[in-house]
Amino acid sequence: MKIGIFDSGIGGLSVLHRALQVMPDDEFIYYADTDNVPYGEKPREVILNIVGNVMEFLVERNVDAVVVACNTATSVAIKAMRENYDLPIIGMEPAVKKAREEYPEGRTLVMATPVTVRGDKMKYLLERVDSEHLVDMIPMPKLVRFAESGIFDGNEVQDYIREQLKGTDLDAYTSLVLGCTHFNYFKKALRCQIPERIAFVDGIEGTVAQLLRKVGRTPADASESTPNVEYYYSGRPATPKEVEQINTCYVKLDEVSRDH
Ligand code: DGL
Repeated sequence: MKIGIFDSGIGGLSVLHRALQVMPDDEFIYYADTDNVPYGEKPREVILNIVGNVMEFLVERNVDAVVVACNTATSVAIKAMRENYDLPIIGMEPAVKKAREEYPEGRTLVMATPVTVRGDKMKYLLERVDSEHLVDMIPMPKLVRFAESGIFDGNEVQDYIREQLKGTDLDAYTSLVLGCTHFNYFKKALRCQIPERIAFVDGIEGTVAQLLRKVGRTPADASESTPNVEYYYSGRPATPKEVEQINTCYVKLDEVSRDH
């Protein structure tokens, strides 16, 4: 089976990283739309158009299913995508439901892009799962820019996190939702300012579980396999240097999934 996974950049690698663990014998196409990153600061019509082009690219390569490994693109475009294409399309939304179910005894803080935070999809999600108004949101667009520049910690990142958290009473929270796939790389950096008793929650596992369900599969054992992935950067095959950067991201993702 051939699966297309896309994001505006390296964020969606966190989803591919997980998918490879449970679908070791499948083919993947990873599309990083780096010419258009960040999505989360663009007008909705622009994102819709961009996502249409990415879908065309993937469908032309005969993928059997598409994972939108991007909360922002899902928020804006998933409906149109499902109307326009007749194949399984798996989207992502901030894992607020999971956070409320697993950590009901405190407030939930959601970090996402400005587009996701403002979107109707987020509004409807909160209407469904946050009837008691225990969820607050902070846009963190600069983390996407940092990640794409290969900066995952350090003074600049810490200053930005501090600035964005100003006025937030962290004592009130028990969970923090990483509502943008780029944010997984910052678990370690965030931990410097987010107390241990606040759990990080993300939608990666849930998204891959949904992919398995949609394509009628069960998790397989990846221990013996070599991943079969083609990487594209906005439509052109990734250069060896870009593939090297991608491999650095996997090391980082291994690190954050082990330690946090
Ligand atoms: N990684 C994306 C998300 O999950 C979007 C980042 C961006 O391009 O702004 O929302």
